[in-house]
Amino acid sequence: RQWVRQVYKLYAIVHHLRWIMQKDLLGQDVFLIGPPGPLRRSIAMQYLELTKREVEYIALSRDTTETDLKQRREIRDGSAFYLDQCAVRAATEGRILVLEGLEKAERNVLPVLNNLLENREMQLEDGRFLMSAERYDKLLQSHTKSELDAWKIVRVSEDFRVIALGLPVPKYSGNPLDPPLRSRFQARDVYHLPFKDHLQLLYSIGSNISTERISQLLSFATTLCSQESFTLGLPDFPLDSLSAAVQILDSFPMMSVQHVVDRLYPYNVFLGKEGRTAVKDALKRFELQDSESHLLPQRITKVERAHGNKPFKADVTVQIGEKEVTFQVPAGTGLLKKHSRSDTFIKTSSHNQLLAEMMQSHMVKDMCLIGGKGCGKTVIAKEFADILGYSIEPIMLYQVSKLCFKYDLKYNIQVLILCIYSLPLSVILKTAVGLHI
Ligand SMILES: Nc1ncnc2c1ncn2[C@@H]1O[C@H](COP(=O)(O)OP(=O)(O)OP(=O)(O)O)[C@@H](O)[C@H]1O
Ligand SMILES: [Mg+2]
Repeated sequence: RQWVRQVYKLYAIVHHLRWIMQKDLLGQDVFLIGPPGPLRRSIAMQYLELTKREVEYIALSRDTTETDLKQRREIRDGSAFYLDQCAVRAATEGRILVLEGLEKAERNVLPVLNNLLENREMQLEDGRFLMSAERYDKLLQSHTKSELDAWKIVRVSEDFRVIALGLPVPKYSGNPLDPPLRSRFQARDVYHLPFKDHLQLLYSIGSNISTERISQLLSFATTLCSQESFTLGLPDFPLDSLSAAVQILDSFPMMSVQHVVDRLYPYNVFLGKEGRTAVKDALKRFELQDSESHLLPQRITKVERAHGNKPFKADVTVQIGEKEVTFQVPAGTGLLKKHSRSDTFIKTSSHNQLLAEMMQSHMVKDMCLIGGKGCGKTVIAKEFADILGYSIEPIMLYQVSKLCFKYDLKYNIQVLILCIYSLPLSVILKTAVGLHI
């Protein structure tokens, strides 16, 4: 994806990267703080790629415990042993530990983090003790390495660093940052891309769309992230997903922009009457309301394996109005079945339309199906997976459960169906692009 590369040439991003590099050189840990979205994480990952560093990653949740950071006890062949977890691996191997969602860390993990950040020290359950490189090297002057090994002292690499990512609390929900922990980081505000940079990025993605249309779309989205909208109780518009939306519009320039906005920000579902009116007014103000000439995708007419050496890609053709558009999407390893395998699945024209729209979203990002109980979300997801030859793995979530963070992806799962019942809206908006209702 050409445009993913483009992002990192933007002035604002280069600035963030330079700042992280300066702190890294000084041996300091950093905390990137900003509104929900993938920007902070992608900056951190880009930094790692630039400097060719290895990463250990953990998404903190309120269920994260000390064990998840330090050591997990496992039983194999009848005997118990300890398995190093992310923080220990990062410290001993000199990797960068990315801690995502610092505002979700509960009090019980704070002492471990504090000690690791401030002293580069950690007492492990298996009796080992992690010690800062400096202190360790000093001990080596008066003791031999085998003595230190016998005392189970392990050296923390001087290359070990922490990059924490988090939301500003309040404004967003979470635990306000504990002051001792806060003081151990160099913090930087990573706000959304500046308007001009963002516009430049979207222009480069959407060369088939008029620049006026793109700038209307971005202005609308920015309005929904303003202080006034926040006061009205409107959730932030997922600005980072605009690139994905523009990518869809670039392949389907004849498609309704309002429809794409609905997919990113399904205000009819989650807002009351007042909120809906406010969003509609904004749509009107930026001339994004549908005119008669705008179309919606109707159905999938063809699905084939992509030609050439692309084993996990499929070419999909979708009918929109009188036209047909072909585009490439990721695909699974199974057979592609455009015609339903299950005899029980009944396909109405609205199912055809939904499947075609899901293909569009699949081209660019993950998606979330929203609908009342028993309305057919799971069957449609299965049908979608069948068409593209994916195997599926359903997971039930009753709340933000630990399962989804701890799930070891050792199986070849291609489509994960997460049955979401009570995820906060901000999480859904942040992770999915195609919200199909
Ligand atoms: N298009 C369809 N053709 C045939 N059967 C369908 C269709 N849509 C839904 N059903 C049937 O309706 C029932 C509910 O569907 P499904 O389990 O997919 O709904 P859901 O939205 O996932 O429900 P829940 O909210 O409980 O997760 C199932 O028995 C399914 O077989
Ligand atoms: Mg279901």
